[in-house]
Amino acid sequence: MRFDGRVVIVTGSASGIGQATAQRFAADGATVVCADLNEAGAKATAADIGGAGIGLDVSDPDAATDAVERVVREHGHLDVLANVAGILQFGHADELSAEEWNRVISVNLTGVFNMIRPALPNLVASGGNIVNVASTSGLHGQPYGAAYSASKGGVVMLTRALAVEYAKKGVRVNAVCPGGVDTPLVANMTMPDDVEGFLVARMELVRGHFAPPSDIASVLCFLASDDARNVTGACVPVDYGMTA
Ligand code: NAI
Repeated sequence: MRFDGRVVIVTGSASGIGQATAQRFAADGATVVCADLNEAGAKATAADIGGAGIGLDVSDPDAATDAVERVVREHGHLDVLANVAGILQFGHADELSAEEWNRVISVNLTGVFNMIRPALPNLVASGGNIVNVASTSGLHGQPYGAAYSASKGGVVMLTRALAVEYAKKGVRVNAVCPGGVDTPLVANMTMPDDVEGFLVARMELVRGHFAPPSDIASVLCFLASDDARNVTGACVPVDYGMTA
């Protein structure tokens, strides 16, 4: 019950890694607020774990601020912000429209910042922390994933910048960088027909199979826990050696 009495927001919690993360926080005693674009999915995850579910588009800064302020108003404090929501799109960079580029950046990178900005004063007050979900694509270049890779590299550097800036104020900021997790995001992924096979080889899984989302949730919850009280600015690969 290491999160007993703690209030946690998990974005992207209708599905995949976010859902597993909400379940793990709740199993370890947290009061969890599940936030997702898919409001019905967020409510379904919340119903299973005795938490609250809200509809939220993280790319909307006003909606993100409202959501964070509402949680603090209703629960009195915020202890952990877990930014998991994300989208994936593959294609040739020279065929990517401005709209497609902006959508990926606005959800995966700006969406993380939209949540962090209103959360920070509350996390300073509670001595809380932030855990972001980046990707192996934020650690090495992902061919056919220009916007995705750029967004996740941005999350890595946002994590490090904030870790340094807020270290003296007692707010830890960490990230996990998963590689190959069994979720709808990957199941629905499509690649252009004419990709160079050897260029995408770096996406191949060392173990030959995807990790269950709970394997990412366990590392994320460790980073958010007091067991990791001396860890900040870490971007931990959870990829079974893909980027080693
Ligand atoms: P998923 O598709 O199962 O879950 C993503 C969730 O984010 C969905 O519930 C979706 O409704 C929500 N979402 C999308 N746009 C949103 C928005 N604008 N506002 C609020 N919620 C929104 O995918 P998965 O795999 O669980 O992805 C979670 C995170 O993990 C993402 O950031 C993804 O980039 C990252 N990741 C996933 C990997 C994988 O192999 N599955 C590998 C590396 C990183």
